[in-house]
Amino acid sequence: MSLTQSHSLKIEKSNTTRIDQVDFDNLTFGTMFTDHMFECDFKDGTWQNPTIKPYGPLSIYPSAKVFHYGQAVFEGMKAYKDESGGVFLFRPLENFHRINKSSARLAIPEFPQDWFFEALHKLFELDHDWVKKGDGHSVYIRPFVIATENCVSASPSTQYKFMIILSPVNAYYSGKLKVMIAEKYSRAANGGVGFAKAAGNYAAQFYPTNLAKEKGFHQIIWTDANTHESLEEAGTMNVFFRINNTLVTAPTSDRILDGVTRKSLIAIAEHIGIPVEVRKVTVNEIVEASKKGELLEIFGSGTAAVISPVSAFSYQDTIYELPDRTDSYATRFKKEMLDIQYNRSADPFGWRYQVV
Ligand code: COI
Repeated sequence: MSLTQSHSLKIEKSNTTRIDQVDFDNLTFGTMFTDHMFECDFKDGTWQNPTIKPYGPLSIYPSAKVFHYGQAVFEGMKAYKDESGGVFLFRPLENFHRINKSSARLAIPEFPQDWFFEALHKLFELDHDWVKKGDGHSVYIRPFVIATENCVSASPSTQYKFMIILSPVNAYYSGKLKVMIAEKYSRAANGGVGFAKAAGNYAAQFYPTNLAKEKGFHQIIWTDANTHESLEEAGTMNVFFRINNTLVTAPTSDRILDGVTRKSLIAIAEHIGIPVEVRKVTVNEIVEASKKGELLEIFGSGTAAVISPVSAFSYQDTIYELPDRTDSYATRFKKEMLDIQYNRSADPFGWRYQVV
């Protein structure tokens, strides 16, 4: 999958910076963007003109296929700064492989690996001041691909844009989440695109999530589309359950995203000797464990949120509260992850990737 290209990257540097207008301690997720972005077009059967330019609007025809058929995929990554000013990404090769896997499912041509990494290096060479030191500060990296062909026939586009934009962020969620187990709506189906970071997967969650919010919940725990009996994901995150001292999470499938944070947590748990079971988890099992006092934690995992603990879940109009623990796995995993990400601890897995 590592396509290679020989043309070099063009760089148009911004003459000004917006960095002084940013309050880095009070950011609303995904609303501020750094000075530069990466853009590369696919046309005439090849990716061409990779360019870094000032962040700004695009000019695209209203007939571009992305607007009509949602032919679009994206990724989420983060950059962290250590105390000496080094800037690190976390397992970026995983995201590179996954965007191409998502693209393949959406009939989008794969992007070359060397351009992806060259773009990331150059973007951070230019915009490294936007990555602030300290817990809670990071830059969210959003690579994405959109279908740009000027044509509304329902067939794969012949033209695309691959872009990377960077957004300084603080923590995604503050506090614990109240979640509702899905009994009617579904996020993904067998043979569908649930495993991909397809833009439409997220749009389809907005309406049921709004209904959950009206009832006082933050997110939905998605269940399988056929029976609504097994637990699959939480909002835009993978989901973990701690039953007694065992960590349980559903296996990835064509309905479940192969989360980078998810697989990193499983590796950390195995490394520090916490028992992990990757298997089907049923709603019934979780409800029964909660009634017996054996369900000690639920948390979501994802790039944006890292780890998000759940305080309560609802199922069939009953609320099940989770105990408040000082020795939670969620806190321990978050610390282990952040210490690796911010270059504060050893990296036994070789996950850190320095760009500056
Ligand atoms: C991520 O964690 O990167 C996500 O995909 C969440 C995003 C939809 C904000």
